Amino acid sequence: MRAAVADAASGAVVAAYPKIGDHNAWDKRTSQGLTTLTQHALNGIRQMPSHGGNPELSNLEIARAITYMVNQSGKNWVEPVSLAAVNQRTGERVVHSKCIECHGVGKFGAPRIGDQQAWIGRVSVGLDKVVATAIHGHGAMPPRGGMADLTDTEIRAAVIYMFNQSTALARAD
Ligand code: HEC
Repeated sequence: MRAAVADAASGAVVAAYPKIGDHNAWDKRTSQGLTTLTQHALNGIRQMPSHGGNPELSNLEIARAITYMVNQSGKNWVEPVSLAAVNQRTGERVVHSKCIECHGVGKFGAPRIGDQQAWIGRVSVGLDKVVATAIHGHGAMPPRGGMADLTDTEIRAAVIYMFNQSTALARAD
């Protein structure tokens, strides 16, 4: 498997990243998530050269090599099979990068995060329908919330995040 060879073949990857098996050192980094770690490995960071010093490695191979090292160090990450899986943004991240502009305050009549009634009312027609509306846009809600590059999976995660936040916040009141 090339991914496993990647870190062994490139001393730079091993030197720049914490030692494989050093759980404490990896814990700090794994909390950043695979997308961020992969970005660091691709761009280079501090002593870590771009692409781990091996430009032949594809982005996906780098991501797999990172997953391998992380798993050798006590984690249980799933090796990504596609770049889409590597780059996928969490619902929380999507919401905080864009959706919150309107949904944080209820701008233009957007269901506000934390307004349990508003979210339950909308989602009662079925999650798929609500996600479809978010994808296509509706009234003052722009298609894909104004993030044209969002995948359907990412927008679904964002909707679920806002719904969960709303019902959880309401319960805490
Ligand atoms: C420019 C403001 C704006 C942004 C940015 C925005 N929304 Fe909205 N959103 C709205 C408004 C306004 C509505 C209510 C539209 C209506 O019911 O006519 C809405 C409604 C929704 C609904 C309910 C749809 C339904 O079927 O009732 C969902 C789900 C949603 N937005 C998701 C998102 C997501 C996910 C993002 C970020 C990727 C996002 N929105 C970003 C303004 C915005």
